[in-house]
Amino acid sequence: MARSKTSQRWLKEHFDDPYVKMAQRDGYRSRASYKLLEVQEKDRILRPGITVVDLGAAPGGWSQVTSRVIGDKGRLIASDILEMDSIPDVTFIQGDFTDDEVFARILDAIDNHPVDLVISDMAPNMSGVRESDQPRAMYLCELALDLATRVLRPGGDFLIKIFQGEGFDEYHKQVRGLFEKVQMRKPLSSRGRSREQYLLARGFKGQRVE
Ligand SMILES: C[S@@+](CC[C@H](N)C(=O)[O-])C[C@H]1O[C@@H](n2cnc3c(N)ncnc32)[C@H](O)[C@@H]1O
Repeated sequence: MARSKTSQRWLKEHFDDPYVKMAQRDGYRSRASYKLLEVQEKDRILRPGITVVDLGAAPGGWSQVTSRVIGDKGRLIASDILEMDSIPDVTFIQGDFTDDEVFARILDAIDNHPVDLVISDMAPNMSGVRESDQPRAMYLCELALDLATRVLRPGGDFLIKIFQGEGFDEYHKQVRGLFEKVQMRKPLSSRGRSREQYLLARGFKGQRVE
């Protein structure tokens, strides 16, 4: 089958991409690892011994980075709609995060243990039609925030992939009300033409009042 221009461009970029080569060299499952590593370098959100929830974790690049830093005494609960090869000491829950039953299974795995950090790199499969892609992406962001506000300890942190567009300003405002400090991050390893950015919220103020 003839390859489309888009898939040809993707293949070329993939094989020319220095972060793909670095991931192969460093034993990471995805180039996405370097996005978290860049945030970590600047903001030090991961520390030995902490409890972390990783949403949209497959194939596991962020989980690998996280488990290396948090070490034996840390705890990591990861989830994705796709399968993920196991990582030692990582609890993995497979399922669609928009499904109540999956949300509940993640809460069960956390088991009321105070969580220090929730990270989400979730993104729906993009169709290229912004009018439908953006609300789907924002819906995942809303659900991730809902989970974060249920499980984070006061003072905990939240890192989430978000796309500029409709709903972004309202979301940003909502997060600002819930955390002490909110900053945007665009790691160098995030492709320039991608609208993705990362919102880093630090210092959860406490339970969300419904
Ligand atoms: C950019 S990838 C994550 C890469 C990952 N952070 C890493 O370092 O390897 C986005 C992930 O979001 C997941 N995802 C998208 N929609 C989802 C949903 N409804 N429920 C759970 N995961 C979802 C995708 O399956 C995909 O694995």
